[in-house]
Amino acid sequence: MKRRRKNKRNRGLLLVAFFVVLATIFFTKIVGNSLLGDKDKPEALISSEQPSQEKTNGEKSEEVIQNQEMLILVNKQHAVDASYIPEDLAPIKYFASDRSAQSRFMRQEASEHFHQLVEGAKESGYELVMTTAYRSYEFQNTLYTNYVNKYGQAEADTFSAKPGQSEHQTGLAVDISTPTVQYRLTSELGETAEGQWMAEHAHEYGFILRYPKGKEDITGYQYEPWHLRYVGQPAADEIYEQGITLEEYLEE
Ligand code: DAL
Ligand code: ZN
Repeated sequence: MKRRRKNKRNRGLLLVAFFVVLATIFFTKIVGNSLLGDKDKPEALISSEQPSQEKTNGEKSEEVIQNQEMLILVNKQHAVDASYIPEDLAPIKYFASDRSAQSRFMRQEASEHFHQLVEGAKESGYELVMTTAYRSYEFQNTLYTNYVNKYGQAEADTFSAKPGQSEHQTGLAVDISTPTVQYRLTSELGETAEGQWMAEHAHEYGFILRYPKGKEDITGYQYEPWHLRYVGQPAADEIYEQGITLEEYLEE
């Protein structure tokens, strides 16, 4: 009688232990993972989500998805937060010295590729320099307000982004000029050998001509042969080869 009670108690203990093990597995595998959430993601993916941007991965290759951070879309329809400042801004070596020093930065990866682009141009005999690259929300606000005061809003909106709508704030855009056009930002740059070299070779360094001629309705801005945008590879090659804009590329 005593032994039977003992056996019953043992079976009971065994059953409890079995449920404890089951509960532990459940919490570790299922609840635990969902609680961890973003902590498990690589930092690059987390920071790509900082500016409120919709995801447009579609059917793209693994490489493109990994490079998604460099594919951030900023335009009249997609703004970044006023408080957004890229974490990895790095100094640019090649700049027009009479422009604002606070703009001589790009995100690390973009800055390295920009330096390579300038050096590549130099090997072909062309001098390229940046005029402005990273612009804070406040800097863009000052620029835009000055343009509106000078030209009126309708005209300013064709060539200057409102604060929060400029991809210069992402640290991935750079305005480039040359001695041949006296370091101005002018559509004449597109006619020069330097401007043509940029249009043909920028993609080899991961950059695209962001506001091409004939695509004003899509980009929302006039032709800007001086404004390059870093998107990385393979996006830059694909955008160049297909003759499309970043908007069209991300829609595919
Ligand atoms: N010029 C471009 C559109 C900008 O202001 O960001
Ligand atoms: Zn620009």
